[in-house]
Amino acid sequence: MIDLALPDTKHDESRQGEALMLEPTRKSGGRKLYIESYGCAMNFSDSEIVASILADKGFETTNDFKSADVIFINTCSIRENAEQRVRNRLKEFKVTKYNNPGTVVGVLGCMAERLKSKFLEEEKLVDVVVGPDAYRDLPNLLEKVDGGQRSVNVLLSREETYADINPVRLNTNGINAFVSIMRGCDNMCSFCVVPFTRGRERSRDAISIVEECTDLFNQGYREVTLLGQNVDSYKWVANQVSPTGGDLEGAISFKEGRGEVAVQEDYTQNIVNFANLLEMVAQVSPDLRVRFSTSHPKDITDEVLYTMKKYDNICKYIHLPVQSGNSEVLDRMNRTYTREWYMNRIDAINNILPGCAISTDVITGFCGETEEQHAETLSMMDYVQYDYAYMFMYSERPGTLAAKRYADDIAEDVKARRLNEIIEKQRAHAHVRLQNQLGKVHKVLIEGFSKKSKLDYAGRNDQNAMVIFPVKEGIKPGQYINVLAQSCTSATLIGEIV
Ligand code: SAH
Ligand code: SF4
Ligand code: F3S
Repeated sequence: MIDLALPDTKHDESRQGEALMLEPTRKSGGRKLYIESYGCAMNFSDSEIVASILADKGFETTNDFKSADVIFINTCSIRENAEQRVRNRLKEFKVTKYNNPGTVVGVLGCMAERLKSKFLEEEKLVDVVVGPDAYRDLPNLLEKVDGGQRSVNVLLSREETYADINPVRLNTNGINAFVSIMRGCDNMCSFCVVPFTRGRERSRDAISIVEECTDLFNQGYREVTLLGQNVDSYKWVANQVSPTGGDLEGAISFKEGRGEVAVQEDYTQNIVNFANLLEMVAQVSPDLRVRFSTSHPKDITDEVLYTMKKYDNICKYIHLPVQSGNSEVLDRMNRTYTREWYMNRIDAINNILPGCAISTDVITGFCGETEEQHAETLSMMDYVQYDYAYMFMYSERPGTLAAKRYADDIAEDVKARRLNEIIEKQRAHAHVRLQNQLGKVHKVLIEGFSKKSKLDYAGRNDQNAMVIFPVKEGIKPGQYINVLAQSCTSATLIGEIV
């Protein structure tokens, strides 16, 4: 099966296969760990937690799997081809293990959780299988492997958020960082494997989130992306004990000082919702940019939009996956919103945050999708004019509600043709959206040199568009700079510092 994604848009598997390096400062003289991550940002963030847990046990990381003592592959199950990629990669690790029989190979993440001990039966080279909630057990599991036992821990937890673990920043530019704010998902979209691989939804202690963001800012980081499968359902009760021993009073007073935003479901419970959390993180510093992903159309509130409006440092960019533009398909997908509801949320974004960038995920060829229903997805795209889109053909996942209830009855060539129509439309819209940004001055956070030339810097504007401009003396990555956009390619603005 193939996934066609616009080459000029982002894709949640675009960072697949990146090797992750420990910072040199955390080096220790012990065994060498190689860790490779596939799938969404959550997995990349989890790999930083894994590296941290093992660094404490004397592991140093390497980017050369052939010389590693332990090879970990942090896997994704979202579509069949994501799993196929991992199987192919394991074949390469097999050769390494054949040459160095002592090498330990471990499978982590969503595929580990989905397949459990079956993985050990199916892939003889695998020594250890560990699900996303069991990473604290890794040192113990590795010890078992050292003792000659292959080991598995795929227990899911209702509480684990790794809140107290200080992630080792891997492959970092020292400017942007992911901060996980919740784990799991309770939504049960019928096509989706995530609720099975990641377990029940739980929110991380708000104090530890603010502390992590403050630490990052003090280390020189200038942008955090708050991560969760459905950030709008973030909910943390502040009268519980913070695992990091943080200042609970501080968190509550943030809320009391806010005054004008009425949100409180139950004030006596001191509930921190997503809008409150956004505000707390935005207040770390006006120079710390705040992004977040993913928002669910059923849950995104006007309160979140007004909080975004109130703070210049909360980026005006929302990823709001539509999946389909037809209400009947949305119902079969169990997305719990209709076409009209989604359009109402888009109207709210445009009214409250004019100029806010919007991106989406689309699935084509879901069970029973007719040509008319597909046309409604295309017309939804016309309505919104997305800045970016991640576009996929439906891939049936074993065990999901859709796999049990509906036939995967759209022929592959029809799925592919519909996907191409969607890609074509998105390409046109992305171009128009970028053209609209020309002639304007953008505040850009410089992230480093452009991929193509050391004569140019690259960074992103508030709306998440990549901006390229000539390097100027005295100006460095990590700084904000005003850039006049003069031209564009299909996905990038090109300009000059003003
Ligand atoms: N929590 C996010 C999505 C996480 S998965 C949300 O609810 O929006 C990322 C995207 O993968 C989904 O938005 C969906 O578009 C796509 N996806 C998930 N399961 C899929 C499947 N079985 N086949 C094809 N695409 C799928
Ligand atoms: Fe999957 Fe739906 Fe949860 Fe997103 S909200 S992770 S698509 S079940
Ligand atoms: Fe994939 Fe798991 Fe993320 S299935 S998309 S790595 S939550």
